[in-house]
Amino acid sequence: MRLFIDSANLDEIREAHSWGIISGVTTNPSLVAKEGADFHQRVRDICQVVQAPVSAEVTATEAPAMVEQGKRLADLDENVVVKLPITPAGLAACAALTALGIDTNVTLIFTANQALMASLAGARYVSPFVGRLDDIGQDGIQLVQTIRDVFDYSFMPEQRRAEIIAASIRHPVHIERAALAGSDIATCPFSVLKQLFRHPLTDAGIEKFLSDWKQANPQT
Ligand code: G3P
Repeated sequence: MRLFIDSANLDEIREAHSWGIISGVTTNPSLVAKEGADFHQRVRDICQVVQAPVSAEVTATEAPAMVEQGKRLADLDENVVVKLPITPAGLAACAALTALGIDTNVTLIFTANQALMASLAGARYVSPFVGRLDDIGQDGIQLVQTIRDVFDYSFMPEQRRAEIIAASIRHPVHIERAALAGSDIATCPFSVLKQLFRHPLTDAGIEKFLSDWKQANPQT
């Protein structure tokens, strides 16, 4: 499973990218609004940092306007992926942008049927929201597993199908479990990516190695 960062903050994206573990970036209107930056400029800046798929979401609600916004976003950089909501208009825009050779990420997926429709409409990615399902007492990881099974049953191995991006990731356990459920990608907030390094025995081990070294080499 690959890891994307779910952020519109350039410092976070730069730092996570420096670790060598990031294969893409996802943003959404809430994340961009938090930054207070010009949307198009921020998408360009992110594309300069990562040179990998960068999802940027449309805010129009009718298909023709979504397609126009999507085309403008795709013109910003060859790695832009147009993010669209799973609505009839969003799927129509997905089909139209796919026909133009523009990659899409269909978002706000909460059922396997929504994911199946998005894949049939040509989406390059589908984004089930794991944490938001958990928040309402449902099992977000089970949705990822169900989408994996539906895709594997519905498409021949050589047929194009969307890649699954487990989104709305809240903690490290979500990441491990998304991988085991067959997700292609997990898109994670910077705070969760940082948590992946942490283990009390790692911290204690580093402290012990360094203090042993210092004791034997007091001059260094
Ligand atoms: O970018 C979409 C998704 O990851 C949002 O997550 O934490 O707002 O549910 P969250």
